[in-house]
Amino acid sequence: MGSTPGIPLDPRARAIIDAAFAAVSDGIAVFDVNAQVVDFNDAFWRFCRFTSRDDAAHSIAEFDEMFEVQTPDGDPVPIGQWGVMRALGGSEQLGASYRLRRRGTGDIWWGRFNALPITDDGNNIAGVLLTVRDTSEEERLLDKLRASQSQLRDLIAERERLQDEERKRISRELHDGLQQVLTALNLKLGMAEDAIADDPEAARRWLDEAQESVIETSQDIRDMIRALRPRGLAGRGLRDALDALTQSQEGLGLMTCEFSGEGLTGDEPDPEVGDCLYRVAQEALTNVLKHAAATRVQVIVADGAEDTVRLQVIDNGRGINHAPGTTRDGLGLVGMRERVAAVDGRLRVASEAGTGTTVEAIVPRHQIEGYSAP
Ligand SMILES: Nc1ncnc2c1ncn2[C@@H]1O[C@H](COP(=O)(O)OP(=O)(O)O)[C@@H](O)[C@H]1O
Ligand SMILES: [Mg+2]
Repeated sequence: MGSTPGIPLDPRARAIIDAAFAAVSDGIAVFDVNAQVVDFNDAFWRFCRFTSRDDAAHSIAEFDEMFEVQTPDGDPVPIGQWGVMRALGGSEQLGASYRLRRRGTGDIWWGRFNALPITDDGNNIAGVLLTVRDTSEEERLLDKLRASQSQLRDLIAERERLQDEERKRISRELHDGLQQVLTALNLKLGMAEDAIADDPEAARRWLDEAQESVIETSQDIRDMIRALRPRGLAGRGLRDALDALTQSQEGLGLMTCEFSGEGLTGDEPDPEVGDCLYRVAQEALTNVLKHAAATRVQVIVADGAEDTVRLQVIDNGRGINHAPGTTRDGLGLVGMRERVAAVDGRLRVASEAGTGTTVEAIVPRHQIEGYSAP
């Protein structure tokens, strides 16, 4: 640490300050009344992303040339509002968070600043003490949290939309399927009622017809209930269901689809586990169709370690290519993660540009007693 030209100090005070400067992990810089840098510690030039101590800026004007200071939302903060300038005007600034952008490189990072006026014996402002803590990691975590919250909101909205659609489908199905037969039934009963006094024979025929309608209608209702039941495993074992799913994709004639289920031995996974893995396979296969441009996809289900079941969907396509700067999964990937987490499993998505994508879910075969799938 060099001497402090703007601020005369006796050697003992200098030694204390040097020790304090070196010991703290926050960046510290001292400015004189002309906003020239008179002293700073190593944490400060590192925070500023200078390559060395000697490379550091010498004045606030130089900082302004090198950095853009922004609010956390990215609005520019003019130099006159920087903590150092305000402190030179007599007002301290504590805990101000800023986003910094290095003009040359475009690097972005975050810091929380304190700027305090330093006064001399006569209570005149002699300089500014600036301290800064690097909050980039915090900000990145917050960003991630905000992104996953907004994904969750999207997911919930999407679920609600699907539920609405499902309700409409059910009401349409009931309306179209039942309205007609019930109207006919009503007419037949009316005819029977009209005829019963004068022509009991005719009334009997109408009643017979009405009874036939009732039998037909109850059959219709059974069919409708079957059609409304969620598809998915539909009572099949997991292996057969995955096999059929893979075959149906193969049937599209767009790529080779292979299924391997010999590795799955032992007892059938719990229904919620089977259903989860089936849905994951369904979404992963759809993604391969939609995004991968693959020529081949393999679906593999097998026993995993410690009584788990492992599902892999492996394609040889272009790989997941998140646009630079974005790490957002779509609703499909988010939904898969949610589903797998809900049955206490792990989902891994590995992807390399050009060589393809592997989606792997590992889920305990049996769920803990008292568990109910959401
Ligand atoms: N198998 C895959 N191959 C290449 N890209 C994929 C694959 N699976 C997913 N992706 C990429 O990841 C993104 C997110 O997928 P997903 O969460 O299922 O959302 P969606 O399918 O609705 O776009 C896709 O838009 C796509 O860019
Ligand atoms: Mg998808």
